[in-house]
Amino acid sequence: MENVNQAEFWQQRYEAGSIQWDMGQVSPPLKAYIDQLPESAKDQAILVPGAGNAYEVGYLHEQGFTNVTLVDFAPAPIKDFSERYPDFPDEHLICADFFNLSPEQYQFDWILEQTFFCAINPSRRNEYVKQMATLLKPQGKLMGLLFNVDFGRQEPPFGGTRDEYQQRFETHFDIEIMETSYNSHPARQGSELFIKLLAK
Ligand SMILES: C[S@@+](CC[C@H](N)C(=O)[O-])C[C@H]1O[C@@H](n2cnc3c(N)ncnc32)[C@H](O)[C@@H]1O
Repeated sequence: MENVNQAEFWQQRYEAGSIQWDMGQVSPPLKAYIDQLPESAKDQAILVPGAGNAYEVGYLHEQGFTNVTLVDFAPAPIKDFSERYPDFPDEHLICADFFNLSPEQYQFDWILEQTFFCAINPSRRNEYVKQMATLLKPQGKLMGLLFNVDFGRQEPPFGGTRDEYQQRFETHFDIEIMETSYNSHPARQGSELFIKLLAK
């Protein structure tokens, strides 16, 4: 399980095309969320960590969001993304470990969670919560999707439950929304929680 902390573990999966998590499209609930945002949100600083092939980043870019940062520590999906979006600013494509991002260097209005929490070693979940909070501006928000399923596996995706998330996140966030997503991709229908959490 330790090796999920290593970029190499994920890089090998991209190289082998063994990317079962990849929906090949922007996640429907996240698209719906993005679509209802006002024009004034388009210059907000947004982070998508563990973005992989980053369909959400691509969609935000297509919709005119100008300050979106993609982070992943596997180089393969970042290279693919930059080939698909040659006009996306290079300085917003960060190949780095999320846990090493410095809050002195990076501060965001919101962060988008999509199949990243379930990819990290479960022993790092409190670290994830803290790091998310430190990368957000005051009153910044963490929004996105979390699995509400215990997969019972020793490899990703590592599942979780609403009770666990409530306990972990309320240390650093006010929970505005944490409810079953009504418009998930058919393959994930009923198994995802839509979250919107405000940094305390
Ligand atoms: C399950 S995949 C999800 C990718 C994408 N969010 C999606 O839904 O298609 C998890 C991604 O997180 C990246 N990742 C895992 N741990 C990371 C870390 N500590 N720092 C940066 N990226 C990480 C992996 O390289 C991989 O691309």
